[in-house]
Amino acid sequence: MKNTAVYPGSFDPPTNGHLDVIERASKIFPRLIVAVTDNQSKTPSYTLKERLTLLKSITKKYSGVKVEIFSGLLVHYLKKKNARILIRGLRAVSDFEYEFQLALMNRKLSPSTETVFLMPDEKYVYLSSRMVNEVARLGGNVGCFVPPEVRSRILKKCKHSNR
Ligand code: PNS
Repeated sequence: MKNTAVYPGSFDPPTNGHLDVIERASKIFPRLIVAVTDNQSKTPSYTLKERLTLLKSITKKYSGVKVEIFSGLLVHYLKKKNARILIRGLRAVSDFEYEFQLALMNRKLSPSTETVFLMPDEKYVYLSSRMVNEVARLGGNVGCFVPPEVRSRILKKCKHSNR
């Protein structure tokens, strides 16, 4: 489908920054697939099912947005979905080098693929899932960094690991 865009990532866990990018992308593309990676080489803090459930819950208000899991090469997944637009969030200059490599590698593997970079609101530019996890693990309040459903999940997880 010509106007389908795919927003891939680990979303471990999804943050307000991710949600901001999803909202922006959904205003541009009538169909958006938020694609959660099943990357076995990373050890995520949240299971694939947890991330899928959280993303479904926080995106249910957007009618054109679907959440799926993908494994293997992203360009193969795009082809399967008949999509050629990749969405990536770009926060700061520090993101650029990795994103630049990723976009050019994907373009090399699939020349018709275009990566569209969206900047989240500036209040989220410092935000990352890794930091949210660290703040939560050390007992800090993550309420202003993640949607309420994600916060509840994080709190449950922290309670269990403190037992
Ligand atoms: O949220 P992240 O961890 O920055 O997302 C990275 C992701 C999932 C987009 C990237 O690791 C990815 O595309 N993985 C699938 C394998 C692949 O196609 N890699 C790109 C060519 S090396």
